[in-house]
Amino acid sequence: MRMYDVIEKKKRGFALTKQEIYDVINGYVADEIPDYQMSALLMAIYYMGMTDEELLYMTECMAHSGDMVDLSEISGIKVDKHSTGGVGDKTTLVVAPIVAACGGKVAKMSGRGLGFTGGTIDKLEAIPGMRTAIDEKRFFDIVNRLGLSVIGQSANIAPADKKLYALRDVTATVDSIPLIAASIMSKKLAAGSDKIVLDVTVGSGAFMKSVDDAIVLAKKMVAIGEGAGRQTIAILTNMDVPLGVAVGNTIEVIEAIDTLKGNGPRDFQEICEIFATSMLVLGEKGSEEECANMVKKAIQSGSGLDKFAEMIREQGGDESYIYHTEKFQKALCERKIFAGETGYISSMNTEMCGKTAVILGAGRETKESSIDNTAGIHFYKKTGEQVGKGEVIATLYSSEEKKLNDAASYLEKGYTYSKEQPKKMDNVIARVSKDGVVRNPDL
Ligand code: URA
Repeated sequence: MRMYDVIEKKKRGFALTKQEIYDVINGYVADEIPDYQMSALLMAIYYMGMTDEELLYMTECMAHSGDMVDLSEISGIKVDKHSTGGVGDKTTLVVAPIVAACGGKVAKMSGRGLGFTGGTIDKLEAIPGMRTAIDEKRFFDIVNRLGLSVIGQSANIAPADKKLYALRDVTATVDSIPLIAASIMSKKLAAGSDKIVLDVTVGSGAFMKSVDDAIVLAKKMVAIGEGAGRQTIAILTNMDVPLGVAVGNTIEVIEAIDTLKGNGPRDFQEICEIFATSMLVLGEKGSEEECANMVKKAIQSGSGLDKFAEMIREQGGDESYIYHTEKFQKALCERKIFAGETGYISSMNTEMCGKTAVILGAGRETKESSIDNTAGIHFYKKTGEQVGKGEVIATLYSSEEKKLNDAASYLEKGYTYSKEQPKKMDNVIARVSKDGVVRNPDL
């Protein structure tokens, strides 16, 4: 294979063969193909796209570039869940324990915060003592006994994706739908679960800003999963506002605990119950209706909350914090944010909300930055809600007073107001499976 010919072929819009794709990915990982040629190919893919067949070959090759986790030592159907990213997204902390409490199996590898989006591992590590770096044998043992474990992704999962993502990041090719699909699904295939439920987020805090683009991405990821023999469904959810009312590691853990008790914010509670139900259906625990009832019972009885506490204890954490959230350390400093106008909040720039949390210390400015677990934002009013000028709409938290000034002036710019009540996106927008797309309200 000549890399020049492959770039030329894609530039002209032709589909690459399986052999060409494997040669390119393997050659790039082995440092035989230079960054400048790979960059040119990525840009050609950006403009010309990829067929479902090309995308499956590329994803499988990326998945096999590192460890392929073998979960066969864990009995039962293992169902994974993955979000394409968002602000205030603590869904895994609620959904995984509920699924386990209902007899499902969740062996989950999660990530840390990336840019303005938070990460499940950073959130879990806000619980004193909690360890997310545990060896495979113990991980399997915990899932077999408890039904769930959430750990950090091992270093050698899809190294081709790591290298390609770093190149995309500096060549303006991150926001390519096929490249996002291959990146996410390569890690999902390598992580070993039998079935996958994808949360494809849409809106100002997501990679996909429009529902149409999100449906294209969802279809591509479902096609990859199914093509690789893993039943996959995708649910499109609203990320045009932060999910729930808390953004920041400790306060998101507390919000997840409230939701496990059935007292979560309405949008977040609904999304968690839908995802837990879908995971149980894929795990063959019953019909949609039966699984939805099981989820409600796990919340009412407290068995979901108990599962969460059990997992925390097994992974070295102090489970007393789960039942006594007042024990969590509170931020030293706080600042209120006031509504700028009387009327309705007509939009919140969710990416700016995420970046505000990073400014406060809840995320990393650089890879080396440490995280302030007490930092974050509590929203009292979100898009569509009525406000009076000067009313408190959010509180910012940080360990450092000086961070509050920068964060407050930045966040205030992220709101717009209107006199008329704005139309809001549904929390759950559509569901995509191999059988097609079903949009709300026909879900
Ligand atoms: N998340 C990923 O893992 N990869 C992408 O390309 C985008 C979001």
